[in-house]
Amino acid sequence: MQDKSTMRTEVLMAENRVLNPSEQIVSQANLSPENYERAIKQAQNDPDAYWADAANELEWFQKWNKVLDDSDKPFFKWFVDAKCNIVHNALDRHIKTANKNKVAIIFEGERGDSQKLTYYDLYRQVNKFANVLRSLGVKKGDRVAIYLPNIPEIAIAMLACAKVGAAHNVVYAGFSAAALKERIQSSAAKLVISADGFFRRGKVVHLKHVVDEAIIGVDTIEKVILVKRAGEDIKLSDKRYSWYHELMDSASPYAETEVMDSEDMLFMLYTSGTTAKPKGIVHVHGGYMVGINRTLNWVFDIKPTDIYWCAADPGWITGHSYIIYGPLIAGTTTVMYEGHPAYPGPDRMWQIIEKYGINILYTSPTTIRMLMGFGDELPKKHDLTTLRLLGSVGEPINPEAWMWYYENIGRSQCPVMDTWWQTETGMFMVTPVPVAPLKPGSANKPFPGIEAEVVDKKGHPVPIGEGGFLAVKKPWPAMLRTLYNDKEKYKDVYWSIIPGYYTAGDVVRKDEDGYFWFQGRADDVLNIAGHRIATAEIESALVAHSAVAEAAAIGVPDKIRGELAKAFVILKQGVEGSDELAKELKKHIRSELGPIVVMQGIDFVDSLPKTRSGKIMRRVLKSRETGKDVGDLTTLSD
Ligand code: PRX
Repeated sequence: MQDKSTMRTEVLMAENRVLNPSEQIVSQANLSPENYERAIKQAQNDPDAYWADAANELEWFQKWNKVLDDSDKPFFKWFVDAKCNIVHNALDRHIKTANKNKVAIIFEGERGDSQKLTYYDLYRQVNKFANVLRSLGVKKGDRVAIYLPNIPEIAIAMLACAKVGAAHNVVYAGFSAAALKERIQSSAAKLVISADGFFRRGKVVHLKHVVDEAIIGVDTIEKVILVKRAGEDIKLSDKRYSWYHELMDSASPYAETEVMDSEDMLFMLYTSGTTAKPKGIVHVHGGYMVGINRTLNWVFDIKPTDIYWCAADPGWITGHSYIIYGPLIAGTTTVMYEGHPAYPGPDRMWQIIEKYGINILYTSPTTIRMLMGFGDELPKKHDLTTLRLLGSVGEPINPEAWMWYYENIGRSQCPVMDTWWQTETGMFMVTPVPVAPLKPGSANKPFPGIEAEVVDKKGHPVPIGEGGFLAVKKPWPAMLRTLYNDKEKYKDVYWSIIPGYYTAGDVVRKDEDGYFWFQGRADDVLNIAGHRIATAEIESALVAHSAVAEAAAIGVPDKIRGELAKAFVILKQGVEGSDELAKELKKHIRSELGPIVVMQGIDFVDSLPKTRSGKIMRRVLKSRETGKDVGDLTTLSD
């Protein structure tokens, strides 16, 4: 029998319901419906002029000679020959304005401790840390690994790297030692910045021993800097380790900001593709700051007077673009929360909104669905009337969760911006703006300047209502420039599947009003609670276990997290399958890949469906698991 929530979702979908933006937002917004339509047309007719307008909202040390150089496709260059530094826009320039003494970061610790940093405080901390980095020999072009939790020091570390011209490589603090090691090695990082630990669900998550293990045998690492967050009694016996606070003590609060070329690397961020090896997505200073600034201004209608909370983690692209760089460029107040959204109680998020009078909340469908499960009464116990706009990201949001968010958190007054984008795109790509009519569950339309289409494998548009691949026809300023040290793979993965297009790996359909409805990944990439993970990564972790001969992983639907992983395992001869072994394998996956991989189950099997050439047909396993049609099996060997 269907449960009530799926029935309601279907009703909403069938109604194709449209919600109009609130009067209040329309009158306040940076954008009017007329300007929005005009911007779409201007961006189509003269994209260079449109993006130059966006770039002119920021400060440059030297302006560009050309907006876009597309002479070496797909290695596009934006704002050619311009000189800039994103930190100048995110920090330095605010010090000369009324923003100087305004709060830049509000930090809320899981245990309720809190800290506020003004733009001037942050500026001085970043300068000090930039001087620390320089004193350790870090210079333009170097790579620095950052393995820190959601605390102000991660923002300071990222900004200080950018200030001295080094590229940061942030590794999410939930990743395992193996994942950290791999990311340190592939970026040949000189330095790791980490912490003793942090607080999550009432416990200390220890980070130092993860770093200890990750840097064994890695000779590029010259130094490890540890922030004292958890207050652990640790003696640093290894000469390479130093405490952050000790280095900061004697550093000067003034530092020059490195002049960067617009196309110089700002950061790399590893993300999962279809293979077992994650890809290092490269972003640069110039185009990236233009893209995130324009989108944050128009989509979240951000104002310097806002208290804005993006409840993601800086370890992901969402945190890079929309917790740290975007909001600081906008001169707004950005909130960082260390802990779990339902700790110590399921109303923690509503309590934080009330405590700081938050105006804009940006979170994921998984979080919304989880908190929705605690009922409608908890949000009512808190004053959420300061909220004026809501956002969602990371995975498709079902209309049921959208409506709950809209009605219970947004009092049916705050527009919900369902923003579709990726680590690779750097900025929102398909998204509503607050002045556009909304359809619950749809990410609306491509942002002005983005030419996205729904196409088949040959690049032909598919008929309205039918599913196809999301493809982007024109380059955009915040796009990835390449994969770190792998230009060929960059071309193959993103620009060769559908000739002439950037392919994102997502399946989407367009309705009769031109609204996009995202349906999930088209490839062997899982999306567990908004976290990307390749089936190949799970399989490779499994076969690394001594009991496993072969393994196949698939995604299965989950009501809260959208998707969970399920594995089918062939054991080595003489090994017996048991509940204990399944538990051990789950633990093994966790320690290899980190807690983002949530397993629904592990089945022991005698064989796996394969093509005649030996490729595992995950599609067959998935169909069997979800009860959906298996489709064409003529290429199957067994
Ligand atoms: O499948 C899409 C899904 O998340 C993927 C990108 O993951 P990542 O690079 O980790 O970045 C996540 C945060 C930007 C996409 O290929 N995705 C992201 N946002 C949405 C989404 N799917 C549907 N609707 C969204 N709003």
